[in-house]
Amino acid sequence: MSAPPPEWFTAGLPHIWLPYTQMKTNAPPLAVARTCDTRIVLADGRALVDGIASWWTACHGYNHPHIQAAMQRQLEEMPHVMFGGAVHEPALRLARRLSAMLPGDLDRVFFSDSGSVSVEVALKMATQYWLNKGVRTRTKFLAFNGGYHGDTIATMSVCDPLEGMHSLYSGLLPENYIVDLPQDAASIDAFEKILERHADELAGIIVEPLVQGAGGMRFHDAEVLRRLRIAADKYDLLLIFDEIFTGFGRTGSMFACEQADVVPDIITLSKALTGGAVGLAATIARKGVFDAFWSDDPKAALMHGPTYMANALGCAAANACLDVFEREPRLDQIASISRALEDGLAPCRVLPGVADVRVRGAIGVVELEHVENVDTLKSRFVDAGVWIRPFGRIVYLTPAFTIDEADLKTLTDAIFNVLNSG
Ligand SMILES: Cc1ncc(COP(=O)(O)O)c(C=O)c1O
Repeated sequence: MSAPPPEWFTAGLPHIWLPYTQMKTNAPPLAVARTCDTRIVLADGRALVDGIASWWTACHGYNHPHIQAAMQRQLEEMPHVMFGGAVHEPALRLARRLSAMLPGDLDRVFFSDSGSVSVEVALKMATQYWLNKGVRTRTKFLAFNGGYHGDTIATMSVCDPLEGMHSLYSGLLPENYIVDLPQDAASIDAFEKILERHADELAGIIVEPLVQGAGGMRFHDAEVLRRLRIAADKYDLLLIFDEIFTGFGRTGSMFACEQADVVPDIITLSKALTGGAVGLAATIARKGVFDAFWSDDPKAALMHGPTYMANALGCAAANACLDVFEREPRLDQIASISRALEDGLAPCRVLPGVADVRVRGAIGVVELEHVENVDTLKSRFVDAGVWIRPFGRIVYLTPAFTIDEADLKTLTDAIFNVLNSG
């Protein structure tokens, strides 16, 4: 028998509206007391091994002392100051470091406070790029089935049409072109045809490079990204890589675009940017994009400015997060995690109801043929002492890169055992 929930839980829950949750029928949330390394400690004292690093953010594990110390120092000096007409050292240092890490001339950083907003900014940037060049017709985007770019209105319009609930919100969402990723003869042909017919309506192409995350943890080859770059160049389109999930090591290299040797025109980053400490995001443009806004005309400026953009506390956390990437052997650890995920999840291949098992970098996926009740599955994982949150037919692991062998085995064993017991 677990302990009764704390007072703050029972008194506050009736006033909370949870994400992606049918508040009437879904199981109540768990009360969390604290986090530590790769553990989530519940109010009733149970400690769960975290398999998903808080929606892929806590890449160095929870409460990393270097990130915490940097935030504490920043908190005392200045948690926040508006970024309009004023700048501060943590933001400028972070911008310089991100520019140095990213390939090519991706070197103008626009900060915001969440992944969705950074994608909104990318879409707005690409559209205004054309307007500033005097082209008024290029206002749409080409995006891909299986993609996910956020939950705000414009980002939903470039998500997978089903996942993005395009029919539910029809009339509200901007209309864009959504096709299959060009991976085989038929999809390459369809992709080329759309471009031939509609390129002059398009501002750009947006894609999650190498792994489409929340849309189903689907993988594609680097060749697809090279194909997109060639098409974008041929039809004069801006290529946007949304690396909010794939950035900072998750696919095995610091950024997924490196594996394809492709430089996008705009890249979006968030999630692991602060090591899971606080919300921060960045939209980074190449010189050629920025140049279209460099003008004597005030109307050519990028008209966007979230109140908490470049939050000093967030930038301090992100700088500390990058220090940790520099100091600790993260890419080696990711390669070891990848091997352990391959080994640990391989036995699931023979289980009835398993459609596919796949691993890329520190992402392990068991795709099921169907899931009767995802809530039941989630609670069985909690009973097994792990925090694993399947969505749809996808059971996946995206652990902290600092996870040790024993905890990783606990996670892969839990998936095997839970799926094996029906
Ligand atoms: C690839 C990608 N883009 C955008 C987003 C949206 O980020 P946020 O939830 O911070 O708005 C996500 C979130 O899962 C994502 O995975």
